[in-house]
Amino acid sequence: MLMRCVNVSKSFKVGRRRIEVLKGCSIAVDEGETVVLFGESGCGKTTLGRVLLMLVKPDAGRVFFKDTEITAPTREFRKSVQLIPQNPDEALNPRWRIYDSIAEPLRVHGLAETMNEEFDAVAAIAEKAGLKEEHLHRKPSELSGGELQRAVIARALILEPEFVVCDEPTSMLDVSVQAAIVRMLMDIQKRTGVSYLFITHDLELARAIADRMYVMSGGRVTGELRKEELRELSRESLIRCELPRVSARF
Ligand SMILES: Nc1ncnc2c1ncn2[C@@H]1O[C@H](COP(=O)(O)OP(=O)(O)OP(=O)(O)O)[C@@H](O)[C@H]1O
Ligand SMILES: [Mg+2]
Repeated sequence: MLMRCVNVSKSFKVGRRRIEVLKGCSIAVDEGETVVLFGESGCGKTTLGRVLLMLVKPDAGRVFFKDTEITAPTREFRKSVQLIPQNPDEALNPRWRIYDSIAEPLRVHGLAETMNEEFDAVAAIAEKAGLKEEHLHRKPSELSGGELQRAVIARALILEPEFVVCDEPTSMLDVSVQAAIVRMLMDIQKRTGVSYLFITHDLELARAIADRMYVMSGGRVTGELRKEELRELSRESLIRCELPRVSARF
């Protein structure tokens, strides 16, 4: 397995109360796989995705990347895993040109020796993400929602990561733009073999892209479905979101 977590728990303190957001979650993603994390709003999907990337430290449980336990993320780990956040504002500095936001990971990791090399790398990934060169010179407030999402994707993919958490990257877009962006992510996967943990509460989308799907509810992973099982779900159960309860294999 490329990425996995075992029995992860996390609670947050809110005022004087403590809320348990993750209750013993275990999931795994293999090389080249697209695994969907599906569940209702507030069930803990984003938090679990962030725990895998060690952006949130779990209270209990373990995270493994290529069979090595990650306790404190190393530079190499930071380079190999990326997040496409639910909200583009989290990844783009409003005062920077899009070019600089996309180039930043290269600069942080010292991966472009000359300005020309940097420009070529930014232009190449921006093109793959479906951005035009003119977009690169603009600030985030001067782009549409779809263009912003493409910029965030370009930034996440510029270091050629092995594992990406795509946190509802298209939920704010209309259906045609959503389809184009998902197709682009799948094309990049075919070319590079990157693995995705794709968070969504859109079951039709999940069915279209998932190799496997985990179902979450109330901070727990309540089920795991293989591609064939997802395909066999009837339209009615899809519409009503009635998922068979498949016990997690952990
Ligand atoms: N930093 C935090 N402090 C306090 N509570 C938090 C924090 N982060 C998340 N929560 C709470 O944890 C729960 C799970 O949040 P999370 O964002 O993981 O859900 P989600 O499944 O991604 O939901 P959505 O589909 O709406 O994005 C929510 O009740 C949320 O309010
Ligand atoms: Mg979320």
